[in-house]
This record gives sequence, structure tokens and C-alpha cells, in this order.
Amino acid sequence: MLGFGKLNMAVVGTGYMAGKMAETIRYVSEVRPYAVCSRSTDRAYEFARKYGFKKAYGSLQELLEDRKVDLVYIATPHSEHYEQVKMCIEYGRPVLCEKPFCLNAPMAEELLALAHEKNVFAAEAMWIRFLPFAGQILETLRSGIIGEPVMLTAGLGYNVGRVRRMLDPDLGGGALLDIGIYLLNFASMVFGDDISRINAHCTYTALQLDEQESITLRYSSGRIAQLAVSMVGVSDRRAVISGTKGCIVIENVNNFESLTVLDSDHNKIASYKRPGQRTGYEYEVRACARAIRDKRIEVEEMDHEQIISILHMTDHIRSQLKVRFPQEMNEQELEAYHKFRAEHTASRNKETAAPAADRAEEAGAAGEGTASAGADRPAENGETLLPAAAAGTEKGSASGGDLPEEPA
Ligand SMILES: NC(=O)c1ccc[n+]([C@@H]2O[C@H](COP(=O)([O-])OP(=O)(O)OC[C@H]3O[C@@H](n4cnc5c(N)ncnc54)[C@H](OP(=O)(O)O)[C@@H]3O)[C@@H](O)[C@H]2O)c1
Repeated sequence: MLGFGKLNMAVVGTGYMAGKMAETIRYVSEVRPYAVCSRSTDRAYEFARKYGFKKAYGSLQELLEDRKVDLVYIATPHSEHYEQVKMCIEYGRPVLCEKPFCLNAPMAEELLALAHEKNVFAAEAMWIRFLPFAGQILETLRSGIIGEPVMLTAGLGYNVGRVRRMLDPDLGGGALLDIGIYLLNFASMVFGDDISRINAHCTYTALQLDEQESITLRYSSGRIAQLAVSMVGVSDRRAVISGTKGCIVIENVNNFESLTVLDSDHNKIASYKRPGQRTGYEYEVRACARAIRDKRIEVEEMDHEQIISILHMTDHIRSQLKVRFPQEMNEQELEAYHKFRAEHTASRNKETAAPAADRAEEAGAAGEGTASAGADRPAENGETLLPAAAAGTEKGSASGGDLPEEPA
């Protein structure tokens, strides 16, 4: 406890991370669940009821107009972050935004300049920067036990290549901003940001987003980081920091679990396990609460300069990979993008409709019960899938507010 009252925490969005944060808030004594907003008031009420939030709103504006909100956590697709963070800052509400803070470095520079101008707290929820075990890794490195660190390899891959927000350029999808960004942050924590050269290669999704990539960072010091990222293949999540006298092997670079030190003969000479944690997101929330109480507008674990620096890296990598989001395109490029996308959807619809039509014809019922244009694969485990035809954006419904009493 900080010795003050609890901060009223608000959550934007009702998806996976919003739920994780709602669960986390229960374990953090500095904050209490207060408000949630969704594009649908019904979903906001449902979420509020499930997690014990007092207020439910059908739009971010309504939530921000509530003066009792002390900290806003944004858990929406990447495409939404810029506008939502901007609104929070303009309303003077402290904001913790999920990674990436926004789509690119110029957007982040603008938002963080605004945060400084308005003196409003803003942070990125890059949780690995806040995990206490990160301190153990850095301490081990500084102890000199592996000699001079010279190289780092890290891989992070999940088979999440059917999750709609990751496949959709409109939503800021792709493996780099979703998964690769953890590895860039890890490399930055270990080797710093004095990078002299970056080389990246990738494979693409059907809509020309990066699906998996290999990234090499060369540092001015002569060190190298080799990063492998995938949103279709499962990896071991391991990172290895190689030094002149040995190496450090870290299990789960996305939620540090353990660290093992091997000497130059590959004998185990030390090992550490992560201490118990709740969800792991409690540390970022505590850091924000501390900063807000101390009237700071950034956190030490990942200051504003660092947020911008990482986005400069992702911008550089995306420019090599030729991955651009519609939000970054000029009129002509946008026109070409929409044409390409329409053609893609049409050919996909043709593909999905044709076999169904064949089957219906075989059954002697041609023209009836055939797959309709835009028919989508069924979603699994509650995830939303492409194409966009199946995912029309819902407009925020009228208004929210106090939760109705639970029926007795
Ligand atoms: N730190 C971590 O470990 C971690 C892990 C996973 C994801 N993330 C990050 O968390 C953020 C959210 O990811 P998620 O996996 O929670 O996504 P998700 O499950 O798809 O949830 C996103 C939510 O955002 C809201 N939303 C607002 N505008 C939207 C739009 N145009 N399209 C779709 N949804 C929209 C939706 O809530 P309503 O429908 O109620 O408005 C939706 O439920 C991303 O920035 C992601 O990179 C972080």
C-alpha cells in the first residue's frame, strides 16, 4: 500500500487482455476495479458484472467524462491505440496502453509530446520490462560470470495465425508488433539501443503482413542479437546470452521463468527460478500507481524515450519488410490497398463458396443451402477470424453508467 486511497482503474475493451487485467486488479492493493468501456454497452455491462467494476460505458468518451477515473488501461487492437491514448491525454486521464503504444514512432512522438505538454501520465504495458526477474537477469550479466556478453539469440513463436486482429492490416496486425516487439524489448534491456545495423527477412500473410521473421541487430559495440519471431509456429521461447566465458539460458523470454548459467564447458554453474507471481501484470500496474502518486508522467521501467526508440526499430524493420498499415498510406496507396483487399476477399469467397456449391449439387439441391458470399470459418475458442465481412464494426451503443443491481 502506498498510504493513499486506491486508484480507480478503468479498462478499455472487453477481450483477452481486458479480462487478464480485470483479474490482475484484484491482486493489486493500490488500485480498484472501477469502470469499463466497450463498443457495445451490453458487453461493457457483462464485463463489469463479471469482474466487479462499478461503471459500464458504451464509449471511451463517456468513460473519460467520468472524473472519478484515475488510470485508464487500453486493451484494444493496435490500430485503436493512437486515438484512444490521445483522447485519454486530452481529457487529462493517466493512461497505460497495451503494446505497441501505437503503430509507429512519429505517432508515439506526437502523443508523448502531448503528454508532456498537458502533464499527463502515459505508459506502455510492455510487461517484461516490469517483471522483477528481469533484474535477476541483468544482475547475473553484470556479475561478469559469463565474461563479456557478445551475442544474444531469442525466439518467440505461437500458432496464433488465425486471430483476426493479427491478420488484419486495418487493425495493425502482423507478427512483429504483436510478438517480435517482446524480443526487441528484451534485446534492448540486455544490450541497449546503440544499434548500427538491422537486417530482417520475413514471410507474408495473404494480406501482406509479416507472418514470421528473422531479425539481426548489430550493435556499435560489435555485439549481435539474432531474433526469430513467428505467429504460425510454436517456439521454445528461449533466449541465450553468450559471453566469452559462458552463457545464460533464459526460459520463456515472454514471461521469464528461469535462468541457468553454463560455463565454457557447458557445465551448469548457477540457476535461478522466478519467484511466485499472480498474473505477472501486477508489476506494471504497481509501477503506474507509484508514478501517478509521485506525480511523474512516465515510469522508470520504460520511459517515453524508450517507447519511441522501440517503435523506431519496428518502423525500420517494417520498412525493410515493406509492411505498411493503411493508416500510413497516401491516397494512391490506399486505393491500391483497397483494390488488393477486395480482390483477395472475392477470391476467398469464391474458394469457400465453390466446394459448398459442388456438394449441394451432388445432393441434388443446387441453389439451396449453399455457402453465402463472405461465409467465414467457424471461430475456435471464442476468437474472431477474418474476413472483415464477418466482423463489421459495431458502433458504440448509446450510453452506459451505473451497473443495475444484480437480481437477488
Ligand atoms: N501483454 C500481453 O501479454 C499481451 C497479450 C496479448 C495481447 N496483448 C495486447 O493487448 C491488446 C489487445 O489484445 P487482445 O488479445 O486482448 O485482443 P482481443 O481479445 O481481440 O480484444 C480486443 C478488444 O478491443 C475492443 N476493440 C475496440 N476496437 C476494436 C476493433 N476495431 N476491432 C476489434 N476489437 C476492438 C474489443 O472490445 P469491445 O468489443 O468490447 O469494444 C475487443 O474485445 C493488443 O495491443 C495486444 O498486442 C498483450
